[in-house]
Amino acid sequence: MTVAAIIPAAGSGKRLGGDTPKAFRLIAGTTLLRRSVDAVATSVDSVVVAVPPHWCVAAQAALAGAACPTAVVVGGATRQESVFVALTALAPSVDVVLVHDAARPLMPPAVVAAVVAAVHAGAAAVVPAVPVPDTVKSVDAAGRVIATVDRTALVAIQTPQGFRRDVLERAHGVASAVATDDAALVEALGIPVVTVPGHPAGFKITTPYDVVLAEALLGSRT
Ligand code: CTP
Ligand code: MG
Repeated sequence: MTVAAIIPAAGSGKRLGGDTPKAFRLIAGTTLLRRSVDAVATSVDSVVVAVPPHWCVAAQAALAGAACPTAVVVGGATRQESVFVALTALAPSVDVVLVHDAARPLMPPAVVAAVVAAVHAGAAAVVPAVPVPDTVKSVDAAGRVIATVDRTALVAIQTPQGFRRDVLERAHGVASAVATDDAALVEALGIPVVTVPGHPAGFKITTPYDVVLAEALLGSRT
């Protein structure tokens, strides 16, 4: 099987703040984009990254010397659009597609390999899941608690998410609403999605706190 990864990296990073798009921000001297590509590169045959307009040259520079061939496309106004555009840039030979957020630079390659292995073993769609550690409650607009949700049935979902190419293309082709992940589009088709264990290091860089956390983790590894 030929495996490709799509890296949606076209967001601006509003919650992180600053002028540079989030994927091009540095963590311990290396862009999130490069770190996220490196996390998947040993498990895939090629990578397509979707970046903001005017960031293609910077992306090519950031990806020089990566462990697998990379292509750069301009993404869209939503994450879903960015993935859709990248899908159209895949080589015809690709039959398994991983979608991995540029914003998850520290996802261990072992989790990536487990996602690929699950697709190889026959799953049409695979997502990494981690337990939800906090008590979860639903609240009304004023912040008053309505109910405590049974968290034993809840997991938090990370990326990379792995798919049979035909399934992911069909899911994006018929998508009627904007979803926050690709598996939701596959679920809408009624196709089963399975989980593999994720990893806490695969957390998404969203706020400045997450940058501090990522740099601390990288510092503690050396
Ligand atoms: N993404 C994308 N195209 C968009 C929006 C998001 O490719 N139009 C990508 C981001 O670059 C990121 C991933 O989707 O790698 C997850 O999105 P998120 O963490 O929300 O990143 P941003 O949208 O950049 O951040 P924010 O929502 O704070 O603006
Ligand atoms: Mg966003």
